[in-house]
Parts: sequence; structure tokens; C-alpha cells
Amino acid sequence: MDWGMRNRLSKIIKPKDGRTVMLAVDHGYFMGPTTGLDYFQKMVNPLIPHADTLMLTRGALRNWVEPTVEVPIVLRVSGGTSILNENLLHEGEVLGIKDAIRLNASGVAWSVLVGAKYERDTILGFTKYIDRCEKYGIPMIAVTAVGKDMVRDARYMSLASRMAAELGAHIVKTYFVEGFEKVVDTCPVPIVIAGGKKLPEPDALKMAYDAIQAGAIGVDMGRNIFQSEDPVAMIQAVNSVVHDNHSPQEAFDLFNKLKSGGQ
Ligand code: R5P
Repeated sequence: MDWGMRNRLSKIIKPKDGRTVMLAVDHGYFMGPTTGLDYFQKMVNPLIPHADTLMLTRGALRNWVEPTVEVPIVLRVSGGTSILNENLLHEGEVLGIKDAIRLNASGVAWSVLVGAKYERDTILGFTKYIDRCEKYGIPMIAVTAVGKDMVRDARYMSLASRMAAELGAHIVKTYFVEGFEKVVDTCPVPIVIAGGKKLPEPDALKMAYDAIQAGAIGVDMGRNIFQSEDPVAMIQAVNSVVHDNHSPQEAFDLFNKLKSGGQ
């Protein structure tokens, strides 16, 4: 792996502990003005100081994020279908690698739809993009998207994650499921978990904790942060699980303390 690729990976995954809190706010690419992100800047600006990486779309970056921001950027480069076609998700390239580089991306993200009707297209598009990533030293984060009707279990997540890694992903983003150790143990590249639909805060913190205990190197979490009753407190609580090995209860105590106005 060349210097540029390693350098960019070290922006995304913090070298001090090999972990990361990625803030996922790319939902608009297929969900439009998602609850919590309808007023993007108002929500995201206060969260940025607590995120190790910001994952978003080209349009959100250009329109709503100051170029002076220090947080590393991961850009979503696949898309093409909306939430209205959730059973027929079919993604292709929506952002070329040269524009991603021009926007100073530290990484890019592409959804692979293993088991879905158009899996072949999304996977071949993904591998073609990885060829370009290798050429320019840009890490690729594979998002193992799961269709509405597909089973979310360790067998499926292991299949999708391992495929993504063998096809060339540098990081895999997947969903936490029971038996997650198997997903991590059989995948040769670092794994981060998505948060999925909004859960009560203690449950989301436990999920992050269990994922880290199972070997995930962090989270790439969205709704469980920006739809929390206190997003700034929640991202700090998640941070404490990922970087300080806080237990779910310690993290929830921190959330409550920060929520009531602490720093
Ligand atoms: C989905 O494909 C998007 O990449 C989201 O960023 C992802 O689902 C993570 O967000 P959440 O934690 O809300 O599931």
C-alpha cells in the first residue's frame, strides 16, 4: 500500500488507537431531507468537532460545509435510486474520482447490494471504482446495503463483508447483528458499523459497545446520533465507547450529564 493511501487511511482511522467515529450524514442522497438533517448546517456544524470523519455527499459538502473545516471527508460516490424504490435499489457512480480528489476526500463510499436484484451491476461498478481508488491512493469504504426484504444476520453480513473486502474495499461498513464476531473474524479489513434506524440511546450505545467488543474498529453512525434528543451529547457518548472503552452504562451516564448542560 502506497504512502498516500496509508496517509488517507490514517486520517479516517485514528492512529492513536486504531479506531474511528465516523459521522454519517449522507442520507439525503436517497432519502432527501431526512428527519434531523432537514436543516443540515444547524444539525451538523455542532457535531463536527466530535467526529473523526464526516461522511456525506458532494452537494452537502459544497453547499453546507466550510472549506476551512479540519475534519477528514469521506464522500459518497454511489447512488441512483431513491427510498421510493427501496426494493429495487440499483446504484452506480454518482461522483467521479477526480471530483472527489478535487474536494480533498480522504476516502469514498460505495454501496454494494449483495443478494439484491441488481447486485452484479453494483459490484462491478464498485470494483471498477476501486481500480481508480488504487491509482490515486484513495481508500474505498464498502457499504453493505441491505434491501428491505433481506435477512439481517451474521451469515449474510459475513458474506457481504467478506465479498467487499476480497473485491478490494479498504474498510467495510456493515450492520451489527448477533454473532458479529464471525463477521469481523472472517473479514480481512477493518469493519465499522452503521447505526441503522433510531433506537433508544442506551440501546444504541450498547450496540456500539458490543460491536467494538466483537472487533469492529468504530462506527459510521447517522440517525442514532442526529435523531437523538441531544445529538451533541450522543456523539460524545458514542465517542467515549469507541475511544475510551466506556461501558454502555458509563456512556449513557455521560450522555445524561452532557444533556443536562455539562461540557
Ligand atoms: C446508507 O446507505 C447511508 O450510507 C448511511 O450513511 C448509513 O445508513 C449510516 O447511517 P445510519 O447510522 O443512519 O444507518
